[in-house]
Amino acid sequence: MSDRNMYTIGCICAISAGLAATTAFLDKIHEEPEYILKGDSNHYTFGQFGKHHVVLAVLPKGDNGTASAAAVATNLRRSFPNVWVGLMIGIGGGAPSRKHDIRLGDVVVSDSVFGYDFGITTQDQPFRTTGSLNKPPLALGTAVSGLKAHYEMRGHEFQDAIKSAFTKNPRLRKKYQRPDQCSDKLYNSDIVHPDGVDMSCASHCGMDPSFFVARSPRTTDDDDPAIHYGRIASANQRMKDASIRDRLSKEEDVLCFEMQAAGLMNSFPCLIVQGICNYSDSHANKDWKGYAAMTAAAYAKDLILRIRERKNAENKIGDSNSGQFIAF
Ligand SMILES: *[C@@H]1O[C@H](CO)[C@@H](O)[C@H](O)[C@H]1NC(C)=O
Ligand SMILES: *[C@@H]1O[C@H](CO)[C@@H](O)[C@H](O)[C@H]1NC(C)=O
Repeated sequence: MSDRNMYTIGCICAISAGLAATTAFLDKIHEEPEYILKGDSNHYTFGQFGKHHVVLAVLPKGDNGTASAAAVATNLRRSFPNVWVGLMIGIGGGAPSRKHDIRLGDVVVSDSVFGYDFGITTQDQPFRTTGSLNKPPLALGTAVSGLKAHYEMRGHEFQDAIKSAFTKNPRLRKKYQRPDQCSDKLYNSDIVHPDGVDMSCASHCGMDPSFFVARSPRTTDDDDPAIHYGRIASANQRMKDASIRDRLSKEEDVLCFEMQAAGLMNSFPCLIVQGICNYSDSHANKDWKGYAAMTAAAYAKDLILRIRERKNAENKIGDSNSGQFIAF
């Protein structure tokens, strides 16, 4: 029987697909510890990545915004007092640009979260955003740098890791395997799929090659999927507008949009890992969700394995140590 004090790393999954993907990468699954605080409504999965004992929580179905993320994080920290590192694992919409060649299935790792609905609406002026939230804890930042150097030298092995996760969990394959490459199409920003038009993009928006951003296939020297490091924009609203996406990408260097991190960062300093499942524009594409959850989980595992073990987690989240935030 495990003991709740053994768990030192907390992962919050935005959706159940993220939980399934992350669970598939666990090296061991534990039974639930006997004692969890009363009044904690979270659902937990327990297990290990290497030697690290991790507890996974998931946001409630149908309520995956910032407030619900904050509530889940608060419960997790109360019930597992030795959790000193947090990861939020999710899927999000990418903001591809000339500077950042982001494709579906890629992973974005955040060194900062930009809360773009923490802002000021002043009459007759455009909405101004003010929110830049806490940075992830130092120990995670250094692990990210170490892993980045490792990938640069040797590349990552996500494809093999995902393959072996499927061998262990064959039912996942159908929904979580990599979709056909030809379904990764990036429409030019001026091609808009109107709201409420229930036709596929292929029939409504068309498939003329001139409608798409031309991108060359990745070569064998490129990491595929690629890992991007930078800023994530987070708000309680969905980003489905290519022109706002492009503006925030240019002005704020945002790589990805999602809906939970802003609720977490100031109460549960954590690193955000997002698999890219669409391009934050008006063209819905549901095919890549499962695979994006797998690539985010594969990264999260590699990262956790790089974190140095802490026997008696003396620096918990919220202790003075978590004040040492850094950028990488
Ligand atoms: C969040 O929930 C909404 C429905 O409430 C759903 O449409 C959306 O895909 C979810 N997004 C994420 C990242 O889970
Ligand atoms: C992109 O994916 C995110 C995460 O699942 C979702 O919340 C959002 O609605 C998606 N956007 C589009 C345009 O499908």
